[in-house]
Amino acid sequence: MKKKILVTGGTGYIGSHTAVELINEGFDVLIIDNLYNSEKEVLDGIEKITGTRPYLEIFDICDNEKLIDFFSRNKDISAIIHFAAYKAVGESVRKPLNYYRNNLVSLINLLEAMKKYSVPNLVFSSSCTVYGQPEKLPVTEDAPLQPAASPYGNTKQVGEAIIRDTVSSDENIKAIALRYFNPIGAHPSALIGELPRGVPENLVPYITQTAYGLRDELKVYGNDYDTPDGYCIRDYLHVVDLAKAHVVAVKRLTEEKNKSGYEVFNLGTGNGVSVLEAIQAFERATGVKLKYKVVDRRPGDIEKIWANPSYANEELGWKTVSTLDEAMKTAWDWENHIRKK
Ligand code: NAD
Ligand code: WQD
Repeated sequence: MKKKILVTGGTGYIGSHTAVELINEGFDVLIIDNLYNSEKEVLDGIEKITGTRPYLEIFDICDNEKLIDFFSRNKDISAIIHFAAYKAVGESVRKPLNYYRNNLVSLINLLEAMKKYSVPNLVFSSSCTVYGQPEKLPVTEDAPLQPAASPYGNTKQVGEAIIRDTVSSDENIKAIALRYFNPIGAHPSALIGELPRGVPENLVPYITQTAYGLRDELKVYGNDYDTPDGYCIRDYLHVVDLAKAHVVAVKRLTEEKNKSGYEVFNLGTGNGVSVLEAIQAFERATGVKLKYKVVDRRPGDIEKIWANPSYANEELGWKTVSTLDEAMKTAWDWENHIRKK
């Protein structure tokens, strides 16, 4: 019997890539998504890649009645991977209540349903944003969390705390929080990828849209930082590598290999890359010249952060394999694919 995994937000960017890797590893994937930031045609891409169309129910996880109804009809779920959330940092500053409601009510509803329907395992999408600007780099999981710089970041800190407290109050529930650094790129088939709404906030979709001619030029936010070349530094990891970490986390939980009820892992490459180096990687990987200009710093930006992924490398046996250039190439192939559709 295949193990059933519920993937919330499974038609979204990271969720769809994870659905592919789960199916490839023999899991039965059920998706809940309200299509707020994705479309159901994503299932076509997943099906083309894997030969299997995951089961999808379209509703808002904040709607507890619908969620309870879902669990009453879908028994024996081995684990939940909870991706569903709003994720735009800037928008969260303008609409904090939307973010707190969506990201936290959905999580509480899910945890209550896990208790009620005896679902034992949860993997949670957290973020390196919980660290703020770390004092020591590369950052390890035990680094102190800084006050969140945005309501979005706060939903990840509070989300982690809600899960930790739930696990310590209930021995039947185990959880892994995965702190992603900067996921980029797309599936190498170019059949699934990121679908940013409106003007992208994130660097790589802005780069690919500019290169495609949809934007005049990339605005690079500052080159006067205290870094070797003056540009901000991040840890960009390929979304397929990130997706594979979820499969490993699910196996660890369902095979009861986790050491404690609640665990936290950094997911990154361990390499700090500046914005300038990211642009150069894009140009190298695609042969396309990018128009950009340096402008003022973006308020709220962290100067530099990259992961120490040793704990995930050793405990999960997971590490990134794709290069930055490969990730950039797949992001570009995906941009071309969606524009030609
Ligand atoms: P995404 O927006 O592409 O996917 C999220 C999916 O959840 C979307 O399909 C959306 O329609 C759905 N959704 C949102 N609220 C919902 C609700 N209440 N009920 C049902 N469905 C709902 O985002 P993503 O980039 O795939 O991110 C997935 C998770 O990873 C999020 O929790 C995000 O905060 C976290 N994360 C993302 C990044 C990143 O840079 N992309 C980095 C760190 C953490
Ligand atoms: C990367 C670098 C920008 C756009 C955000 C969230 C974080 C996490 C990942 C979810 C920075 C620079 C960007 C542009 C630029 N998400 N940049 N011009 O800010 O590291 O993190 O996504 O959890 O929580 O805050 O990612 O892609 O926006 O920026 O120069 O048009 O690119 O200044 O140095 P960030 P990003």
